Amino acid sequence: MLTASSALTTPPKTPGTHLPTYIFDTSDDVARHAAQIVAGVIRERNSRGQQAVLGLPTGSTPVGVYRELARMHREEKLDFSQVITFNLDEYFGLSSDALQSYHRWMKEHFFKHVNVPQDSIHIPNGAVSLEAIESHCREYEQEIERAGGIDILLLGIGGNGHIGFNEPFSPKGGRTRLCVLDPVTRRAASSDFFSEANVPQQAITMGLGTILEARKILLLALGEHKADIIREATEGAVSPRVPASYLQEHGEATVLIDAAAAQDLTAIVTPWVLGQVEFTDSLIKRACIWLSEKTGKALLKLTDEDFLNHNLHQLLRHHGPAQKIAHRVFRWLMDTIEYHPAGKEKKRIICFSPHPDDDVISMGGTLIRLVEDGHEAHIAYMTSGSIAVCDHDAARIADQVTEYNRMFGIDQERSKLVESTVLESLARKTPGQPDIDNVLKIKGLIRWGEAKAGAFKVGCKEEHLHFLDLPFYRTGTIAKKPISGDDVRIIRELIERVNPHQVYVAGDLSDPHGTHRVCAQAIFRALLEIEASRGSRPEALLYRGAWQEYALHEIEIAVPLSPGDIALKRKAIFMHQSQKDAALFPGSDPREFWQRAEERNTATAARYNQVGLPEYFAMEAFTRWNGVPI
Ligand code: F6R
Repeated sequence: MLTASSALTTPPKTPGTHLPTYIFDTSDDVARHAAQIVAGVIRERNSRGQQAVLGLPTGSTPVGVYRELARMHREEKLDFSQVITFNLDEYFGLSSDALQSYHRWMKEHFFKHVNVPQDSIHIPNGAVSLEAIESHCREYEQEIERAGGIDILLLGIGGNGHIGFNEPFSPKGGRTRLCVLDPVTRRAASSDFFSEANVPQQAITMGLGTILEARKILLLALGEHKADIIREATEGAVSPRVPASYLQEHGEATVLIDAAAAQDLTAIVTPWVLGQVEFTDSLIKRACIWLSEKTGKALLKLTDEDFLNHNLHQLLRHHGPAQKIAHRVFRWLMDTIEYHPAGKEKKRIICFSPHPDDDVISMGGTLIRLVEDGHEAHIAYMTSGSIAVCDHDAARIADQVTEYNRMFGIDQERSKLVESTVLESLARKTPGQPDIDNVLKIKGLIRWGEAKAGAFKVGCKEEHLHFLDLPFYRTGTIAKKPISGDDVRIIRELIERVNPHQVYVAGDLSDPHGTHRVCAQAIFRALLEIEASRGSRPEALLYRGAWQEYALHEIEIAVPLSPGDIALKRKAIFMHQSQKDAALFPGSDPREFWQRAEERNTATAARYNQVGLPEYFAMEAFTRWNGVPI
């Protein structure tokens, strides 16, 4: 939560990059820092009676910045009456009131919360005709010029390095224009449009030339999915393949990122090559595992030469010789392997599953083990997951229930009425339109039924399954409400009722608006409230969502799984039929969910084995929550 009172310290400039880059612990810190810089420009202009000209992006990255600027307006009287804004881009072919239009997005996230005069807001018009587009773009450029140019421009970055919608190999001197979107960009936008096929092919964007003329630029990036491109843009050569790399030539461009987006930078991966570093236990672990992977040698086979040949002189000097360091790290890793993650004495545990399938996908094997070990294993499904069910599945169930009721002589009138409203609303629905309440209920029911069947497969009992249907998720659209006291209360009541010794939480914390992070935030708040009132709280272990695993140096508990465990886990995942074959939100990975889960678990075991630890078939990995709220 952003607060006015918490002081924000600027981290040191990151070494090893060609662009001034600052790494913040959290996405909130990035947002607050960026907002303070923008507010500084506005205040300075206001004090001289001049206008401040802002260049603005949309997307998931700047949401926190807009929220913080709105807070400053509300609580600190930050005055936007002299502000002129120019947005970077807009989808072509969308009217300004379309659900996915950037006009609408900007109004919802920013303009309706601050006092920028209506006629000072400029956003390219996506509804302009093809014939008029050239003159529209020319006028947009002239408006920027008339305003005196852009004082400060905020940018996000696409996974392919685009800024605005300047995709790879866009002209460096380009001006505002109609452009064709890359498949990568359209895929990234697909969840906003409920399918990639609905994403427009084209957009209007400021050109790279327009962008690079801004007097000051802040490039923001959040989350590990940006880590790779951030490394390329800040450490790589300037190249048309990575449009954001042109910022290296700007002079007044700064990069603000969170720790997740920074994770591939040299300063994080191999900081010892950049100068003197303090080798803490965690850095020793990281460096040693890195060296083992780099050399392809087991930890216990590393020699002094390996350390010296890979710039690890300092580590060897202060903590060596090689066998001493390697043995320490080997022991640490061995100690993470745990067959009985909740011990052998009977305990109560709750697995919190943000969506109705995260439980079995991410820790199905561990659930099997916990049940086998005799623990009382509860699963709390935090959201209905209704948004990820296809319309045809909802229609099928509505029809099936009508037939079922007819067959058994149950209340046919009412079921026919529900069926016809459902079918009519689905037939009328345009792409991207939210579902009516009855459809959402049916979709939620489908997922609940699947969740129960999946939980039974791993051995959980029906009375230990809890469907929380948290209010923050109940919007029927991709955009969710912020976490509220009600969400936290529902979780807290469950924890107080079950009184678990241990809870499992989906620890995907880097996507600032992702459902997993919001769920974790609510659970952490509930746990801290419980701790404050009782003086203690259950132990909280974190598991990663379906697609990625913790890095070896991060893992604190690894639960070994046999081929039999994995086969049973697969059956549990299969119970989620609405998410099989062609899920609505599969992301960019062509593999089915069960395949991703299995490859992830066997890869974790292989990684342990590669650094010279025992050879297990598969492993599920966890870290411990450190008690700090997010
Ligand atoms: C949006 C824009 C794009 C986004 C970029 C990152 O106005 O110009 O360049 O900034 O695609 O999007 P998010 O922030 O959603 O990851």
